[in-house]
Amino acid sequence: MEMAYILIYTVLLVAILSYLFRMKHKRKTHQMKLKLPPGSMGWPYVGETPQLYSQDPSLFFATKEKRYGEIFKTHILGCPCVMLASPEAARFVLVTQAHLFKPTYPRSKEKMIGPSALFFHQGEYHTRVRKMVLASFTPEAIKSLVPDIEKIVLSMLSAWDGHLITTFHAMKQLTFDVGVLTIFGSRIEERYKKELKKNYFVVDKGYNSFPTIFPGTLYKKAITARKELSRIFHEIINERRKEGETRKDLLGYFMDTKNEQGTQLLTDDQISDNIIGILFAAQDTTASVLTWIIKYLYDNQKLLEAVKEEQMAIYESNGCGSQPLTWGQTRSMALTHRVILESLRMASIISFTFREAVADVEYKGYLIPKGWKVMPLFRNIHHNPEFFSDPQKFDPSRFLASPKPNTFLPFGNGTHACPGNELAKLEMFIFIHHLVTKYRLEVFGSHNEVEYSPFPVPTRGLPAIFRSESNCNNDDNLRR
Ligand code: HEM
Repeated sequence: MEMAYILIYTVLLVAILSYLFRMKHKRKTHQMKLKLPPGSMGWPYVGETPQLYSQDPSLFFATKEKRYGEIFKTHILGCPCVMLASPEAARFVLVTQAHLFKPTYPRSKEKMIGPSALFFHQGEYHTRVRKMVLASFTPEAIKSLVPDIEKIVLSMLSAWDGHLITTFHAMKQLTFDVGVLTIFGSRIEERYKKELKKNYFVVDKGYNSFPTIFPGTLYKKAITARKELSRIFHEIINERRKEGETRKDLLGYFMDTKNEQGTQLLTDDQISDNIIGILFAAQDTTASVLTWIIKYLYDNQKLLEAVKEEQMAIYESNGCGSQPLTWGQTRSMALTHRVILESLRMASIISFTFREAVADVEYKGYLIPKGWKVMPLFRNIHHNPEFFSDPQKFDPSRFLASPKPNTFLPFGNGTHACPGNELAKLEMFIFIHHLVTKYRLEVFGSHNEVEYSPFPVPTRGLPAIFRSESNCNNDDNLRR
């Protein structure tokens, strides 16, 4: 009897093992049969990196798409890549099969920002941190920031009044201050603000420089400033701990989220990395979009007048600035909203994102090999005439109708989609309101060329002068 059982078990085991082996083999053979996407890999080692940087990078991607279609392979920045230029493919990588593609960044960037920043991760840790970040950026949560953002905008505009500014650099100051506000709240001490700003901009300057161990280089200076930022964050965290008060800013969420044992879920170092991560994700992105908005409005004077009309109606209903702007009013700026959306589409400042395949993946009969970089090309999708007619034309009215699903991805999609998109738009609404109701714009130089820093911005950061003008009998200078 016992012998019979052993025999049955053995036969079953052999059957299961051989089934699994056959399945694995079948999958392997199937994958071996799959072909790589079309495209070219360029020269050994350098691949097609010289071609990418010898021209406008968007031209490189657009030419490839025209030649090979929605999926193609290339070799850039030392890595074999598969690029995907269709809405379905972007959804496949970022949403439906996101578990097969992990975020990937150069080591030097991870070191500079801090390895615990949420966008370097996927899985349980990422979900946990993302939940806290999302909670502090819901429309409900950012509503209360309107008066403080307004104060920052008014004081910056007044400081720039009549001076020649580099718009992009000016916008970076603005978005940095708003970043600090959302993370640390409005009660942060002035001395901390100054120290944070000083060190942050040293990190910012060295972020894209060549990583080296030599002292005196931008990179080394940035690493030193990064350590100093960490020290300041720890000091602020310790002070808050002593106060024992709960606060409703991002740092408050990080410090007050506890595990089952009632201890802080994130370590202070993890909080520190995430603060830098958020500042980096929030600053240059929003600043470059604001710069583009100014350029597009200046280039389209009729549109500028129409936006001004929309904003003047709100300004006048607020007693020409004697009442503060309200959250409800920022929700009612229909034309301004369309201008923001069209600027996000036209400029597509995040032209693509990077992932890495964690396994061999099949997409539409092509093989995406494990370890290859995968790049959904947002800009190509935003500039495809199939989804946006006459795509090179700046036309906010196209957003009177909703874009087709997955064709408009300025804030990404899926598990890593931008949690700060509502805050970014709120900043833009408030800034545009005060700019067009009280200032006359003058933009200088050849501003039809683009430079990369690393996001695309108008050349030389768009030199401009904002001159205050009185559009109302009352003036809101008193509120500054
Ligand atoms: C116009 C301004 C902005 C644009 C165009 C933008 C765009 C994006 C995009 C495309 C992604 C997804 C990247 C990917 O999938 O690899 C992203 C992620 C992210 N953004 Fe933004 N962003 C902006 C402003 C902000 C602001 C103001 C904040 C914070 C306050 C922020 C915080 C983040 C964070 C933390 C992530 C990573 C999310 C994750 O990995 O789960 N961004 N952003």
